[in-house]
Amino acid sequence: KRLILVGPPGSGKGTQSPIIKDEYCLCHLATGDMLRAAVAAKTPLGVKAKEAMDKGELVSDDLVVGIIDEALNKPSCQKGFILDGFPRTVVQAEKLDEMLEKRGVKVDKVLNFAIDDAILEERITGRWIHPASGRSYHTKFAPPKVPVVDDVTGEPLIQRKDDTAAVLKSRLEAFHRQTEPVIDYYSKKSILTNLHAEKPPQEVKAEVQKALS
Ligand code: AP5
Ligand code: ZN
Ligand code: ZN
Repeated sequence: KRLILVGPPGSGKGTQSPIIKDEYCLCHLATGDMLRAAVAAKTPLGVKAKEAMDKGELVSDDLVVGIIDEALNKPSCQKGFILDGFPRTVVQAEKLDEMLEKRGVKVDKVLNFAIDDAILEERITGRWIHPASGRSYHTKFAPPKVPVVDDVTGEPLIQRKDDTAAVLKSRLEAFHRQTEPVIDYYSKKSILTNLHAEKPPQEVKAEVQKALS
């Protein structure tokens, strides 16, 4: 399967991705995770992306299209993939269509994590992540077994620099202005499924499974 997860910051894309990935053996391509790794490693890409990310703005279409184009060539992505956080602009969606056409494949389904903005601040400010695996936790909704280390590796968890109430505001603005048109784009192609992303993780998981069965 070839899937796209779209939704505002904190809507649960990164939480559901590993579940879908394990069930269908797909590769998980999260542009945010890839960009954060590049920033941490201070690569040329990371240096270019950092300023926009810190402000909660989108990085340029060319940069993210480039990293996805490269990642789609990985052997592990040939049978299917989950795109988490890409495409985020209509230009990115059009470029993705070109990249897939070139490879003779197409997107099967787009899952829209629909949720009210009001719920997101609590989710974002309570989040802790394990950078190496991308696993996320929440002080209230998904606490780690031992605070604050990863359940699997025992390594320390960190908070994302852009997970503040102030930066969340600009991330939400970017979502409504630049990413909501992407939802229309896929709705017109009749491959969009809307999820009730405000429900507890297990219920969202059940909706995801139903959408994919
Ligand atoms: P990115 O990393 O993609 O961030 P985002 O889209 O803002 O999404 P998040 O990762 O914040 O949310 P999520 O939906 O994954 O939530 P999660 O499951 O962790 O992008 C970061 C930046 O990179 C962007 O601002 C931009 O600068 C740049 N960028 C990335 N892609 C780009 C692109 N394509 N183009 C241009 N720029 C790009 O859940 C959040 C919290 O809630 C967790 O603590 C979790 O435990 C908890 N939680 C999850 N589900 C539930 C639930 N059902 N109930 C209760 N709590 C829950
Ligand atoms: Zn995420
Ligand atoms: Zn809106």
